Amino acid sequence: MKKKIYITRKLPDRILEGLDKHFDIDMWPKEEEAVPRGILLEKVKDVQGILCMLTENMDEEVMEAAPNLEVISNMAVGYNNIDMNAADKRGIIVTNTPGVLTETTADLTFALLMATARRLVEASDELRGGKWKTWSPMHLTGMDIYGSTLGIIGFGRIGQAVARRAAGFGMEILYYNRSKKPEAEKETGARFTELDDLLRQSDFICILLPYSPEVYHLISGKELSMMKKSAILINTARGGIVDEQALYIALKSGEIWAAGLDVFEKEPIDPADPLLTLTNLVTLPHIGSASIATRMKMAELAVANIHHALTGFGEVKRVN
Ligand code: DGY
Repeated sequence: MKKKIYITRKLPDRILEGLDKHFDIDMWPKEEEAVPRGILLEKVKDVQGILCMLTENMDEEVMEAAPNLEVISNMAVGYNNIDMNAADKRGIIVTNTPGVLTETTADLTFALLMATARRLVEASDELRGGKWKTWSPMHLTGMDIYGSTLGIIGFGRIGQAVARRAAGFGMEILYYNRSKKPEAEKETGARFTELDDLLRQSDFICILLPYSPEVYHLISGKELSMMKKSAILINTARGGIVDEQALYIALKSGEIWAAGLDVFEKEPIDPADPLLTLTNLVTLPHIGSASIATRMKMAELAVANIHHALTGFGEVKRVN
């Protein structure tokens, strides 16, 4: 009998080609809408594998509902949507998609940094809103990137890829990470710096840490108050790392100059959230890895992971 897989979002046909030769596949048919929780719990009852997105909370309840579950394949590098203790307790393999989205996410991080520094969204909105009056000396002036200091919090694959881009912009690069990275220091010219010093010295601060409960609100009121008044904070990692209420106060009061967020504590953020009233905040809907080629690679890797884990043949990107 074929093993059963449930896929929680519609994936392109090309990605799934041939998979039904080996497995019984069921898939939520919508691409732009997450599977409702009740349907998910029903669908996983007799599956051995679940291929899910970061939008699905894979907690104890889901695992209880799927007593035959052998593998959860997450189509993301971050896996904070999965209860790892519950998975470990049941011997469920958890996989993710590292490596394939590094450069794309670093591109987006740098794009957001540049858009925030040079007020691109505000400028475009002004023009389209018919409010552009004339060229004037200090009109829509922003912050220089070339020659400034970048502090990177979290110096893994994506942090290092951002550092390589920053080196091309003549930035001085500081990083804070659990462990020092001498090879990457040589390649990028980045210098290890304690967190407090990084916060005090940087013109731009990019958060590129994997999420875990230990880094919840790592950047809160105290950390924001240590930053320069001209500082720009960029978060393309996970929303929970930044205390959004404290960020609102810091941006509103001018304690820091601007921020760019691709991720939020609750996604999607409530459109009525006060953060969205601020012109010195650039916001994106979690699109760090959203290039066509990279999303296809992530889907392919998520499929390969589940296939290999269920057959026992081939490489599996396990996180446990
Ligand atoms: C991830 O993979 O964790 C990103 O947040 C989405 O691509």
